[in-house]
Amino acid sequence: MATVNLRTQVAGLDMPNPTMLASGILGTTAEVLRGVADSGAGAVVTKSVGLKPKEGYPNPTVIQLECGFLNAVGLPNPGIHKFMEEIRSLRDLKVPLIVSVFGFSPKEYAETARLAVEAGARAVELNLSCPHVKGAGAEIGQDPEIVKLIVKAVKDQVDKPVFAKLTPNTSNISDLARAAASAGADAITAINTVKAMAINVETFKPILANKLGGLSGAAIKPIALRCVYEIYEAVNVPIIGCGGIRDWRDAVEFMLAGASAIQIGSAIALEGLSIFKRICEGISEFLERKGFRSVNEIVGLAHKE
Ligand SMILES: Cc1cc2nc3c(=O)[nH]c(=O)nc-3n(C[C@H](O)[C@H](O)[C@H](O)COP(=O)(O)O)c2cc1C
Repeated sequence: MATVNLRTQVAGLDMPNPTMLASGILGTTAEVLRGVADSGAGAVVTKSVGLKPKEGYPNPTVIQLECGFLNAVGLPNPGIHKFMEEIRSLRDLKVPLIVSVFGFSPKEYAETARLAVEAGARAVELNLSCPHVKGAGAEIGQDPEIVKLIVKAVKDQVDKPVFAKLTPNTSNISDLARAAASAGADAITAINTVKAMAINVETFKPILANKLGGLSGAAIKPIALRCVYEIYEAVNVPIIGCGGIRDWRDAVEFMLAGASAIQIGSAIALEGLSIFKRICEGISEFLERKGFRSVNEIVGLAHKE
């Protein structure tokens, strides 16, 4: 049994360990979120919620590939007003509850975040991978100026930590991180899914009903790791690493690249909720073996000459 205590602080949130549930994976009801917290996650992030109820895309919305998962779910959610009931019922949760919000304008993000905090969210994570209302196919979060406007609008409305979750579908993720940090983001979450697709060779048609989707899981880990590494060099705010993390080794790699905490998504579908405890035990043993006394001591070590 390793003895290194994994308790850590990320952007002012006190966490028993540096693992978090990633948004969109199981985070739709209070009951399930409580189950994830009980299984050992250091914090939980809800599914993204918007100002108004929204239906998702038709099926198929999620498919499993050899190297991960492809999804185009379409941000289905009950709307923040309804979701506030779930948030309220989690006020006694023993780990921080982070509510993921999205919107189609800075104002929508800000209002949704304000209501989430009013209901009891300990922090909000901005899902900045939302399609533009007018633009064809472009995401809101690909434009540093819009990222800045959204983060600023949310920071003006809430007094809890604001995480900006960035998309890797950009030529320079550091520009997005700098924009978010300059507008006051308290942490950067990197990354959301990588734009991708799959085609059925028998029918000649894209498999997802939405044709294009987002790739997650093992295949994107090296991309996510590179993003965290670049962001660490660009800004001075805590980074939460996400993308393809399956075991303690992956988690440690992200921390060495600069992540103060990590999120786990797709791997839960393959390994179940025991993954949180397994990863924590592995990190703790690693720290002990290497002679470290806390997780903070290894954050960003890969940048040292
Ligand atoms: C089915 C599915 C639904 C998702 N829904 C959301 C969401 O609502 N909001 C969000 O910010 N990210 C969402 N994501 C992205 C994940 O939070 C995460 O950023 C991504 O899957 C990479 O991590 P992973 O490889 O550990 O899954 C979703 C991912 C999947 C697979």
